Amino acid sequence: MEPMNKDFVIKGQQIYLRPITEADTEMVVRWRNLPVVVKNFIYRKPVSCTDHENWLKNKVFKGLVHQFIVCRNEDDMPLGSIYLQNFEEENKKAEWGIYLGEEQAYGKGIGTEAAKLVLDYAFTTLGMHKVVSRVLERNKASIRMNEKAGYVQEAYLKEELFLDGQYEDLILFGAINPKG
Ligand SMILES: CC(C)(COP(=O)(O)OP(=O)(O)OC[C@H]1O[C@@H](n2cnc3c(N)ncnc32)[C@H](O)[C@@H]1OP(=O)(O)O)[C@@H](O)C(=O)NCCC(=O)NCCS
Repeated sequence: MEPMNKDFVIKGQQIYLRPITEADTEMVVRWRNLPVVVKNFIYRKPVSCTDHENWLKNKVFKGLVHQFIVCRNEDDMPLGSIYLQNFEEENKKAEWGIYLGEEQAYGKGIGTEAAKLVLDYAFTTLGMHKVVSRVLERNKASIRMNEKAGYVQEAYLKEELFLDGQYEDLILFGAINPKG
């Protein structure tokens, strides 16, 4: 996949998505290390600014990850980040992920709207056939968001992961491009 054009913007009703930049690093690292985010992620280790800069250099700026900042339309406030990764060009498949880092963003449909925008981007702009996600069974907000955005549960993996001293069930979601 080619890296995203820096000026590319995806416009929604409450929010818009713009490509992540190096200038977002401190903010994104803060979000990514919040307990509310970490507890819902499979990768649990603290992320440093250097880790994130390497991620940008090796993944995002090479086009291996398409990562956006979710911004509020009314005042441009950055609220979180959403991304497509693990592109499989042969299968036209990608995986998506999201985290909101600002408290005022939660529970207003922002996650669902961002999810829909990125799914449409994956299908329409990137020509993906399938987009998937992995969600811990106890992450009810994410499960609901996936369902509302058009994802369907494809698998339920019992005690799939050993995280922080306990086994966790994992749900695999998928969405298929209706246009091929
Ligand atoms: C997951 C996340 C992006 C959802 O964003 P959000 O903007 O708060 O979600 P929405 O407002 O779009 O709500 C989605 C649905 O989940 C529901 N929901 C929210 N919290 C819930 C909870 N604790 N239990 C059950 N349902 C819940 C909402 O009510 C809504 O459903 P409804 O419209 O039928 O009422 C956000 O919670 C987040 O960033 N969490 C931390 C990181 C994370 O979990 N990322 C995903 C990893 S797979």
